[in-house]
Amino acid sequence: MDFTCEYKKYLESIEEWLKEILPPKSLTVDNFPEKRIYEAMEYSLMAGGKRIRPVLALAVCDMLNGDTKEVIPFAGAIELIHTYSLIHDDLPCMDNDDYRRGKLTNHKVFGEAMAVLAGDGLLNFAFETMLGETAKNDEKTFLRLKTAYMISMAAGTKGMIGGQVIDMESEKTNISYELLCQMHRMKTGALIKASVLAPAILLNVDKNLYSKLEVYADNIGLAFQIKDDILDYEGNSEIVGKSTGSDTANNKSTFLSILGIERANELLKKTVEDAINALDTIDNNTFLIKMANFIAEREK
Ligand code: IPE
Ligand code: IPE
Ligand code: MG
Ligand code: MG
Ligand code: MG
Repeated sequence: MDFTCEYKKYLESIEEWLKEILPPKSLTVDNFPEKRIYEAMEYSLMAGGKRIRPVLALAVCDMLNGDTKEVIPFAGAIELIHTYSLIHDDLPCMDNDDYRRGKLTNHKVFGEAMAVLAGDGLLNFAFETMLGETAKNDEKTFLRLKTAYMISMAAGTKGMIGGQVIDMESEKTNISYELLCQMHRMKTGALIKASVLAPAILLNVDKNLYSKLEVYADNIGLAFQIKDDILDYEGNSEIVGKSTGSDTANNKSTFLSILGIERANELLKKTVEDAINALDTIDNNTFLIKMANFIAEREK
């Protein structure tokens, strides 16, 4: 199967899973006076994201000959967390953006208060899902708990949220290259890394294999945000599906503002090479190699 078909196969599994866990459309306002929160959550969740994080998790699961059914709730939980982070990232008090995933941003449609709550709802929903899995009491309970813990750390102040804090605080100042890398690894790299490592923990792989996957994940996580910065600078907003030029408008510290486009591209290339080299001795690595290249070459 070629890369595009395989990506589509993973993407469809995740879309199906997300549709299943969303509340039914038949909810009435009489029964659910809080119905609007579900509309706001669904609006952003089903707006057509690339699903790169859950796709990665399912692909790693396949590479390790794991059971997709075991991994998908965790892969989906990461997508729920990611979507919440986008809703909040777009708010006027953060990046103040009007378009996301090819549509108006959540707060533009539902208002700021509902957008905040929709983000909160998605985040909580992720934990409801993961804890629901750990509540199944069998021999895999401990591994599921370990996975949920790892994901929670990646999403929190030591990961994504911490990275967003550095991002906000570094507006209008020139941060060091080292801090820029740390910010990117935290705000974006952490959840991407969690997507690669979740199946590895669930399948209890040995330390050696785990370390190689960590190196791969670290590098694609960084590469992903370098490319995101490049797309904000030179991408076509119609294709990217979100407002471009936002980083410049907000005086953000990015790979472009600190290194310039040429060196940002060089670093992107090197980061992808380092990711691919880490997979050297792992069997069935073709899809993950192509994924690393896709991250650098994507137009959205
Ligand atoms: C955008 O993530 C925000 C970053 C963390 C860089 P994606 O580019 O994965 O966005 P979607 O999920 O496809 O919309
Ligand atoms: C945000 O980075 C990363 C998140 C944790 C949401 P950006 O602010 O660069 O993401 P985009 O460009 O708005 O998608
Ligand atoms: Mg941001
Ligand atoms: Mg943003
Ligand atoms: Mg960006």
